[in-house]
Amino acid sequence: MSLKNLLTAFAIAATACCCNQQSTHPPDSEIPGRKWWKEAVVYQIYPRSFQDANGDGIGDLRGIISRLDYIRSLGIDVVWLNPIYSSPNDDNGYDISDYRNIMKDFGTMDDFDNLVSGMHRRGIKLVMDLVVNHSSDEHEWFKQSRSSRNSPYRNYYHWWNAERGKPPYRYSLFDVNHDAWRYDSGSKAYYLHYFSPKQPDLNWENPALRKEVFDIMKFWAEKGIDGFRLDAFQFVAKDTGFPQWPKGYEKNFNDYYSMGPHIHDYLKEMYKEVLSKYNVMSVAEGAGRNFADAHELVDSGRKELNMAYAFDAVDLGKPGGYSLLRFKQVFTRWDSAFAKEGWLSIFLANHDQARLVTRFGNDSPAFREISSKMLTTFILSMRGTPFYYNGDELGMTNPGFTRLEQFRDKATLNEYQHQKAIGTDMVQYLKNIEFSGRDNGRTPFQWDSSTNAGFSSGKSWIELNPDYKQINAAREENDSNSCLNYFRKMVRLRKENPVLVYGIYQLLDPANPDVYAYTRELNGKKWLVVLNFRNRVVTSNTGIDFSKARIMIDNYGHASLDGHLKPYEALLLELP
Ligand code: GLC
Ligand code: CA
Repeated sequence: MSLKNLLTAFAIAATACCCNQQSTHPPDSEIPGRKWWKEAVVYQIYPRSFQDANGDGIGDLRGIISRLDYIRSLGIDVVWLNPIYSSPNDDNGYDISDYRNIMKDFGTMDDFDNLVSGMHRRGIKLVMDLVVNHSSDEHEWFKQSRSSRNSPYRNYYHWWNAERGKPPYRYSLFDVNHDAWRYDSGSKAYYLHYFSPKQPDLNWENPALRKEVFDIMKFWAEKGIDGFRLDAFQFVAKDTGFPQWPKGYEKNFNDYYSMGPHIHDYLKEMYKEVLSKYNVMSVAEGAGRNFADAHELVDSGRKELNMAYAFDAVDLGKPGGYSLLRFKQVFTRWDSAFAKEGWLSIFLANHDQARLVTRFGNDSPAFREISSKMLTTFILSMRGTPFYYNGDELGMTNPGFTRLEQFRDKATLNEYQHQKAIGTDMVQYLKNIEFSGRDNGRTPFQWDSSTNAGFSSGKSWIELNPDYKQINAAREENDSNSCLNYFRKMVRLRKENPVLVYGIYQLLDPANPDVYAYTRELNGKKWLVVLNFRNRVVTSNTGIDFSKARIMIDNYGHASLDGHLKPYEALLLELP
């Protein structure tokens, strides 16, 4: 940390603590329902692209270890690590062949143990990805399962014997033909795969399978990890009679494939067997079909999960832009549905999405930094646990891949083949994936301006974003106004002010198509957030006179508080 940063950090700490002393309001310790996982800021690390320690062009655990001081310097509390288990990498680790071992590319179990202790020494918790809707087809279970109809592992997966004819259609997200049934000639049967054919779906109806999963979870919990992110969990439960879906709804993934029979029994069992026995947090990818589903997953009395993340908001970011009115509506509706009970996570980017600033801000040189800071202000000032993706703290952008050879993601490549086969305009299609393909968020972390951005001394597994000479951590470290240092300040502000975690959220100026404004209120403290989502000056009409408010943070560093907002201006104010 430079002296300047240290002084700024100290100044923020000093203000935060002096206003606590003056406060006549009830102490924050009296906030009901406080939990560490509600107050945490989660930083997501994509291990393949974070830091390569041995020069093979692939990020690894020793690489992450070498960057632990950087991670700590962010002020975040929790790291969510994408899968690091043994895997043939059909889907970058989301196809696991051994749940109790480390992927060769990433290192060894010793490296893992060192990583956990290095994090814990620095006060950082570790959340691991739990990928149990499916395994790899190279997992021993599946090898056994497919070997014979009489295998004791047969019922670990979903099989449909060929003499019954073709099974009722099921949609697959990653299959070239979007057909989730793959014929296996060895035992003359079809197996189910909602994702790629190398990711056969596990059969949760089988108690033996569930026990295996809980044992795996205990194995990692005993190693001292602090939580699980349940990958694609809303899809684990299936009606194993595999009824025909009504005509026209066969591909309705949201309504017909999620939240199947017994899912809550499985979660309650998981809670009883594992989650309740350790101090671990749990978060589900996907929040069901509607608010009621989401509540049933996360409400505290349910004894299931701590939180879930919904896709409604992140899905709004499209190549042609998005409607801020809709964006505000989505976040506001979710917030009010969970105002009294339940907890959610807040995110706008991860390893499956395009870059935050490209998709929701403006990545042109004139506005990249300012709009990226504005989005950081947003994510860290909403109610819900923020999940923040590595590289976004630097304002990393989409790399602008325009040639198919530049892409690595199997889902993208399979979909390309599919679109080609059905006669899609492939020039247009490439433009779409240039904007929204999953590889956009997977290019190597930009550490400095040296070869390969300091990520690797070898040829990296995926091309780097050529903008790394301008956008990198080393450069931002030395600039007190950088996105990186803004992120640190914002994290700190959230950590020190429970109003940003627990405060009641209220939308202001709802019909304003350019400005997102809201208050957060707790124990007599009222904070106002005003965000300009446009590249021009706009006015806000919050109905609150904030000319005398105290500026807690603002992304220009010279806010005028006269109701006019500069392009992508973000204000976070404490009201008198
Ligand atoms: C989740 C992961 C994604 C993966 C898929 C299948 O959506 O985030 O990366 O491809 O599940 O496991
Ligand atoms: Ca490596």
